Amino acid sequence: MSITIHDLAARKISGPPITMLTAYDYPTALALDESGIDVLLVGDSVGTNVLGYESEQQVTVEDMVHHTKAVRRGVRNAFVLSDLPYASYETPGQAIKTAQRLREAGADGVKVEGAIPDVIRAIKQLGIPICNHLGMMPQTLANAAVQGKTFLAAKVLVEQCLESEAAGSDMFVLELIPRQLAKIVTEQVNIPTIGIGAGPYATGQVLVINDIVGITRKAVRHTARYAEFAADLRAAAAKYKEVVQHGNFPKPSNSVSMDAHELALLQEWLTTK
Ligand code: KIV
Repeated sequence: MSITIHDLAARKISGPPITMLTAYDYPTALALDESGIDVLLVGDSVGTNVLGYESEQQVTVEDMVHHTKAVRRGVRNAFVLSDLPYASYETPGQAIKTAQRLREAGADGVKVEGAIPDVIRAIKQLGIPICNHLGMMPQTLANAAVQGKTFLAAKVLVEQCLESEAAGSDMFVLELIPRQLAKIVTEQVNIPTIGIGAGPYATGQVLVINDIVGITRKAVRHTARYAEFAADLRAAAAKYKEVVQHGNFPKPSNSVSMDAHELALLQEWLTTK
């Protein structure tokens, strides 16, 4: 049974914490879905993590459609949440078009950065679940600094959350805010909050898949690392190079042998041509 936005809302009351990870491709989506992760986020971090872009601002709607389709093909149960990329939801009309594209590509819901009630209302009217990303917003904030540390900044964030919820938001991603502020927001709103670098009090947690499997070179404080894929990749590639160059690959079992009679015919034909 696929996880719905209503199932996620219920977890705010009865738990357990919601687990969300980014996914950008089919094999990763398959593995994360089989592991029971609740939400796969096709994040616009695909730009810097997979496509080699300098910033989230370079990610296009076409990029998001392409990767959302790939993730969708690998998912049976998880809720697929896709980011509306930078500059693709500047007006409610543009947001509707982009959200529809991502929905057609297989997203169960979409995420936007900022508190933008008009856009939230427009997307909600389409019946598409919407998540708001607040705190550190990678599409517009150049430096990944903690947000909401002062009374005034924290107050603005709480107000933005209340305003977004009133406009119809279904869920929040809270990135890089103090843990006490994440707790207050979680208590003030009725919808799930998903934290990243925001402490333990949110309704759930999200991390970037590349970070937890050890593909990202740069270590960041808020993440965790449970595997060393980059080291394993380098070791596998080095092993492959060694066995090929030493004549130890491929082995007879890695290919097929031609029937002797057919081979003889071929060789005879070569002598006559
Ligand atoms: O795109 C992304 O990876 C995100 C997470 C940081 C939540 O938005």
